[in-house]
Amino acid sequence: MPNTEDYLLGTDDTESVRLGIQHRLWSAQAAAIWERARIGPGSRVLDVGPGPGYAAADLAELVGPGGRVLGVEGSPRYVELFRSRMSALGHGHAAVVKGDIHHLATLVRTNGDEAGSFDAAYCRWVLSFSPDVSGVLAQIGACLTPGGRIAIQDYFNWRAMSLAPRRPEFTRVIEAILAFWESGEGSNDVMAVVPRLLRDASFRLEHFSVNQRIARPGEPLWNWPDSFWPSIIPRVVDAGFLTEPESRAFFAAWRDASMDPDCFMMVPPVFDAVAVWRG
Ligand SMILES: C[S@@+](CC[C@H](N)C(=O)[O-])C[C@H]1O[C@@H](n2cnc3c(N)ncnc32)[C@H](O)[C@@H]1O
Repeated sequence: MPNTEDYLLGTDDTESVRLGIQHRLWSAQAAAIWERARIGPGSRVLDVGPGPGYAAADLAELVGPGGRVLGVEGSPRYVELFRSRMSALGHGHAAVVKGDIHHLATLVRTNGDEAGSFDAAYCRWVLSFSPDVSGVLAQIGACLTPGGRIAIQDYFNWRAMSLAPRRPEFTRVIEAILAFWESGEGSNDVMAVVPRLLRDASFRLEHFSVNQRIARPGEPLWNWPDSFWPSIIPRVVDAGFLTEPESRAFFAAWRDASMDPDCFMMVPPVFDAVAVWRG
């Protein structure tokens, strides 16, 4: 079973703050998929792996006090941050239960929510850490009403992340992060198999598309990689996939690129899938 308490990218302050920045930078894409999944006032929504609850807080505002947001999260630290965020915002209709998303339906019931009663499930950047995506999809299906929708945002072709003009230090780091990710239990190519797995799990794929964005120095989206490197690279070095000198060379090259108004970066493609639960 996966280590649900401290997933591959960690749960320290650097990573938890990064998730907030990341949510803000991708919130337009999140709002768009929620609308496609027909999430609105009164909806009952499951947030599968919500982290500290940044998207869940927006969902709680969207569904309003007549709706429900329930997160299922493995990290005790993120569960705590989720709770304090919702309490500070006064969202009494948003809650989180600690546990492994591979046992989602049981956890939902244990929390006193009826499995089979949710209108929608949101799952962003979580399936790419799962060793059993089919199992998670089946668990989500068991929590939805027939006709309920799942909205997934995750990666395929993460290795497409590239700096232009190319720099060898950057390419080396991408390869090292890929090797580190592949040493874990998930895959950052997960969206390649999601359409097939949704079909097998009794979902009908309604929408499938890609968000391919680029970032330029000085633009807000440049902060996405800029906040990712300090969180991930020390972990990749600790795990032995990158040396200290390679890490230092990378950060020097990145600082240099950040000063170059003519360079740009392709960020990894984020795929959207919305599918209807057939029941
Ligand atoms: C990259 S973060 C994404 C957080 C949030 N969905 C977002 O979009 O900001 C992945 C989250 O999934 C959680 N997670 C990963 N595998 C899990 C599992 N098997 N059970 C419960 N939570 C898990 C991690 O603890 C982390 O909070």
